[in-house]
Amino acid sequence: MTVPDHKRSSKGEIEDLIKARYSLIYVTSHEEERVEESVRKLCVEREMRLEVWSVTEGFKVVANGSGTRDVKDPMKALDHVVRAEGRALFVLRDFHPFLKEPAVVRRLRDVAHELRKTKKSVLMLSPVTKIPPELEKSVAAVVDWELPNRQEIEETARRLLPNAPPATQQMIESDPTFMERVVEGALGLTLVEAANVFAKSMVRTHTFDLETILEEKKQIIRKSGMLEYYEHREEFSDVGGMEILKDWLVKRRNAFSSRARDFGLPLPKGILLIGVPGTGKSLTAKAVGALWQMPLLRLDVGKIFAGLVGSSEENMRTVIKTAEAIAPAILWIDELEKGFSGTGSSGQTDGGTTSRVFGSFITWLQEKTTPVFVIATANNVQQLPPELLRKGRFDEIFFCDLPDREDRSSIMEIHLRKKGRDPSRFDLDKLVDATVDYSGAELEQAVIAALYDAFDSGNDLSTEGLVHTLRDIVPLAVTMREQIEGMREWARTRARPASARGRQAPKKDGWMARYGAPAQNLGDKSPDVGDGERKLEL
Ligand SMILES: Nc1ncnc2c1ncn2[C@@H]1O[C@H](COP(=O)(O)OP(=O)(O)OP(=O)(O)O)[C@@H](O)[C@H]1O
Ligand SMILES: [Mg+2]
Repeated sequence: MTVPDHKRSSKGEIEDLIKARYSLIYVTSHEEERVEESVRKLCVEREMRLEVWSVTEGFKVVANGSGTRDVKDPMKALDHVVRAEGRALFVLRDFHPFLKEPAVVRRLRDVAHELRKTKKSVLMLSPVTKIPPELEKSVAAVVDWELPNRQEIEETARRLLPNAPPATQQMIESDPTFMERVVEGALGLTLVEAANVFAKSMVRTHTFDLETILEEKKQIIRKSGMLEYYEHREEFSDVGGMEILKDWLVKRRNAFSSRARDFGLPLPKGILLIGVPGTGKSLTAKAVGALWQMPLLRLDVGKIFAGLVGSSEENMRTVIKTAEAIAPAILWIDELEKGFSGTGSSGQTDGGTTSRVFGSFITWLQEKTTPVFVIATANNVQQLPPELLRKGRFDEIFFCDLPDREDRSSIMEIHLRKKGRDPSRFDLDKLVDATVDYSGAELEQAVIAALYDAFDSGNDLSTEGLVHTLRDIVPLAVTMREQIEGMREWARTRARPASARGRQAPKKDGWMARYGAPAQNLGDKSPDVGDGERKLEL
C-alpha cells in the first residue's frame, strides 16, 4: 500500500470542480495574487477564458482573451456572467460583503441554476468564508486554498538571493541542504509573509539566517492566536517511566520518511494520552518533537471558540492548513476536553458550532494524508465525546497512571540530575518507598521543596531531607482518589497502559492506605494483575 504524502492541490481541486460542472465555487484565501495566478494557469491549460472582477475595476479578461468591461455594480456583474459566451471562469474578488444583500443572494441562486447548463463557472475569492444560509446549497464547494509549498517558498527565497554578498551566495549554492532548511523554516507562512521574513533576515544578517527566519515564523504563527510554534526544550530522556508509550514513539521515529512509505508502512495519525494529572502527558508531547526532530505546534482548542478572531469553523481550518503546510509536523492538542466537551448537547447552546467544528476535526483526523501527527492530551475522560474514541481516529489511546516503583525511581533520578545532584548519592529505594501515589509533577515539586529546605538550613540536599519534606506533601491522588479509580476503570477496556504494570510490590504505607483505599487493593504481595488491569500500590 502506498500512502500519498500530500493531498490533491487546491488548483487540482478547482479543476475537478470545473470538470464536474460546479457553477458556484467559493475559495477562501488571504493570498489573492497567488490564487489568481494558479487559476490563470489552470484556465490557460483548459483553454477557458478567465475574467476577474472587482468592485473598483469591473471585469478584466486575464487569460484566453483580452479586454475589460466596466460593470462595477455586483448585480450587473452577475448579468454579465449570465450573458457571456463560451467556456469561461469568472473570479469575483471580495464578493462576500455583497452577500448581505437579499437581491444579490437571490440573483446568485438564479445564476447558479442557469450556469449549470453552460460551460461557465463563478469563483468567489475572499479572505473570509461568509456564505449566507440561502446560498449554502447553491455554492457547491468551499475550497480553503492551501499555503505555499516548498517549491513556491524556494522561488521566493531565490528571488532575494541576489541581495546577499557574493560569498554568501556561493556558500548557499554549494550546500544543497542549506536552501532546504531555509525553505523548511518558512513553511506555514503565506508567500508575502515568507518574502517579508526572508527580506528581514537579509537586511539584518546579509544571509538567510535560520534563527531569524524561525523567530519571525514563530511570531507570525502566534499572532494567529490559536497555535504556538514550540521550541524543543524538553528532551525525550527527560521523561521518566512510561516505557510502553516511549517504545511506541521511538519505533515510529522514522515513520514519516519516504523509506517507510516504500516499505509499506501507513502514516502514523496520532495518539491520545489520557490519565492522571501530572503524570507527564504534556511533557511527553513536547519531548516527541525533539525525538522525531519535527516541529511541534501547540493548539489551544479553547481559542478556536473564543471568537476573538474569525469564526470557529474558519479557525479550525486555518489551524489544519498551517499544520499541513509545515508538515511533517506534530500538532499537539493539550487538554482536548476543554474545547470539545459537550459536543453532543452543544446544539442547544451554541447553534451546533462546537459539534460542527469537532466534526470537521474528526473527519480530518481520520482522512488526512499529510504527515501531521496529532498528540492529544486529556485528563477528564468523561467529557470526551465518544466519537473521538472510536477505532480509526487515533492509532492508539494511552492511559498514563501514577508511576509505579521503577517509574518513580527514574523520574526521581531525572529531577535530581536536573538540579545538578548525583542520583547515586541518594537512597532511591527509600525515596521510592516514601513517594507511593505521587505523580511525576509531585516528585518534581518535592525535589524543589526539599532543595529550599536544604538551602535554608545550610545543608545540601539529602535522602533524609527529601523524606522529611515529603511528609508534608499530600499527593493529589488522595483528594482525587475516586476520580482516579474511575479513570482506571474506564481505561481498563479502552486504552493501553503507557507503562508496564503489575511489577510493583504493594505497600501499606502509601497515602491512600492511610486515608483509606478500596479494600481489594490492600495486601502484602504483588498481585498478579493481568493485562488491562492496574492495581493500586498500598
Ligand atoms: N514521567 C515523568 N517524568 C519526568 N518528569 C515528569 C513526569 N511526569 C511529570 N513530570 C514533571 O511534572 C511536570 C508536569 O507534568 P505534565 O504537565 O507533563 O503533566 P500532565 O500529565 O500533562 O498533567 P495534566 O493532566 O495536569 O495536564 C513536567 O514538566 C515534569 O517536570
Ligand atoms: Mg498537561
